[in-house]
Amino acid sequence: MIAPLSAVPCGILGLGFLGKILAKELSKVPESWGTDHKTPAPELELPVFYFDWNKQDSWSSLPETSAVLALTIPPQLDSPEAEAKRLHNWCSWMQQERPSLKRMIYISSTGVYPKRNGLWSEDSEFEADTNSGKLRLLTEKILSQYFTLHVVRPGGIYGCGRGIDVRFKSGKPIPVSTTPVHRIHVEDLSRIILHLAEHPESPSCINAVDLEAKPSWEVACWLAENREDLTEEMLQFPLNDINLLQAVKPEETPERFVSNQRLHELDITLHYPTFREGLG
Ligand SMILES: NC(=O)c1ccc[n+]([C@@H]2O[C@H](COP(=O)([O-])OP(=O)(O)OC[C@H]3O[C@@H](n4cnc5c(N)ncnc54)[C@H](OP(=O)(O)O)[C@@H]3O)[C@@H](O)[C@H]2O)c1
Repeated sequence: MIAPLSAVPCGILGLGFLGKILAKELSKVPESWGTDHKTPAPELELPVFYFDWNKQDSWSSLPETSAVLALTIPPQLDSPEAEAKRLHNWCSWMQQERPSLKRMIYISSTGVYPKRNGLWSEDSEFEADTNSGKLRLLTEKILSQYFTLHVVRPGGIYGCGRGIDVRFKSGKPIPVSTTPVHRIHVEDLSRIILHLAEHPESPSCINAVDLEAKPSWEVACWLAENREDLTEEMLQFPLNDINLLQAVKPEETPERFVSNQRLHELDITLHYPTFREGLG
């Protein structure tokens, strides 16, 4: 039997794309569980409890264990003020009613970093320039007041049936931009989260991005050349249409990079270091 990546029991809040991959890994770790707000809950190899982050009468279904929480649910409200109030309310409830659930790994986003030229790292000083970025930053801050918190900021999560190759195949447009896009394969992201669960001494905030940020357009070109099932004819625009790229204004294509130095220092070997391994 292959040893699980982590022996630390985890409670996964939200069984979406990433949550289900995490659940697969954690099915071998006793006392791990997950939550979903759909009924019936998905059938997985670990216990699944009904939990709706917005419905207080469902919160008591959270088990009274000392599992490490992995919060994959996105912000719920558009107004930062209303979302902050909602978060304080839930966190206070958790502190009172589930005091043993005190460690959390929060899945945030590289979307917190401004869309401006630069190399952004976890300790850069900045303000988010989108509402979703602001909501993420405020969530990170509030959660850290109540939980022993690790924040993971992933780039675009792909793999296992989601990604630019799927877009390509279904003929959906590929964004015309030369802005580098950071990505992380969902299995590598899951391994990073399990590593943090196992190593509480790790830095409290980690960017989860692979080793090569490339514009979607360039990835599409690579796919057309390297995947037999993908051809240029499947796309709305020809890949070599330089005029399209030249028409994009420079301010719409910032040279925005996200540092993966800390991830590197965690000493996790990515199984999919670039989109080539992940999509090849
Ligand atoms: N996908 C990306 O490229 C990317 C990049 C950076 C960060 N992120 C963030 O990383 C996290 C994990 O990503 P993902 O792709 O796994 O997202 P996902 O598939 O959307 O998973 C989020 C899960 O949370 C559930 N959820 C939503 N509202 C809820 C509520 N009120 N109560 C309980 N559960 C609720 C969703 O259920 P429903 O499906 O029923 O809504 C879904 O199962 C998300 O927060 C996402 O925003 C994603």
